[in-house]
Amino acid sequence: MKTPFFLLAGFLTASALAQDIPYREYEPFERYEPIVSGDLMLSGTYQHWKDPANLDFRMAGNPDENWKLNWKFMDPPFNQTVHGGHFAVDRGERLFKQLDVYGTFASCLSDRSGSPRNLRAGYPRWRADLGRVAGLEEVIEHCGAKQGRVLQNGSYDNSAISIYLASIGNGQPINIDVTAGPMKASFERGRRLFHAKAGAFNFSCASCHTHNIGKRLRGNVITTIYGDVAHYPVYRTQYMLQSLQLRFAECNLDTRTQPLRPGSQPYTDLEVFVTALTNGYPISVPAERDW
Ligand code: HEC
Repeated sequence: MKTPFFLLAGFLTASALAQDIPYREYEPFERYEPIVSGDLMLSGTYQHWKDPANLDFRMAGNPDENWKLNWKFMDPPFNQTVHGGHFAVDRGERLFKQLDVYGTFASCLSDRSGSPRNLRAGYPRWRADLGRVAGLEEVIEHCGAKQGRVLQNGSYDNSAISIYLASIGNGQPINIDVTAGPMKASFERGRRLFHAKAGAFNFSCASCHTHNIGKRLRGNVITTIYGDVAHYPVYRTQYMLQSLQLRFAECNLDTRTQPLRPGSQPYTDLEVFVTALTNGYPISVPAERDW
């Protein structure tokens, strides 16, 4: 009996799919909890800097201790001068006001709910109009395009608007809900990605940011992932202005892993994961980092 062609084709497709699932190694999963107290389980760094009054900046000169400072949400006090992040906030404000003359930019960004002040603390979020979970920078690009303005995700102007929006939310705790629906699914995908080994060195994000915290790498001390989102976008001497997803690209490049486009789903999932681990940390921009 002749096998009907469509059955054969179906069988071939199914077996090809089964073989196409790439083999992956993972770092051991830590018990990450998307709440502030989770940090105590992992590294105990939060106790050192949750209250600025506890920060002893003499630790800054001591490589064995300076990672505890982990100045994630504040400018290091040894540089209180004006830096590029401040200029970026000014630029972002100008662009925002140009685009928002009729209030349409702000209402597009917020999905017609609430003040621009609350935007940073509540992103990434589900966007019904886009049909997916999106980060703030992706939505800035989307809402700019509606007005014929090119604000490519990762570009200086896009990040400038993002840092301006963060600056008017300064002090607000990051607060995204990953307990249900598409946000939960995105968080879980992000968690897997964070632990998945890849690239020429077969490193995962967790290889460094979970299992090598406090170690020096090319003059940098590797920090925990907790709290990071609260000071992004960040002014870096190397890039001028770095969005969170460009940071992911840089960490990928550093470990010889193919970087992805800002706004791609894997990077957005990673952003959801690290943002949930920043829940409760107050927004603090503009922050400066060298390198
Ligand atoms: C080879 C080790 C290594 C790997 C692997 C790595 N990173 Fe990094 N990462 C660093 C170093 C070093 C820095 C700069 C110092 C710091 O802030 O921790 C950094 C910085 C960061 C920051 C900014 C921290 C801050 O407070 O400004 C984020 C966010 C980040 N990495 C996320 C990731 C993600 C997500 C991955 C996986 C895609 C990843 N990293 C993979 C070493 C690594």
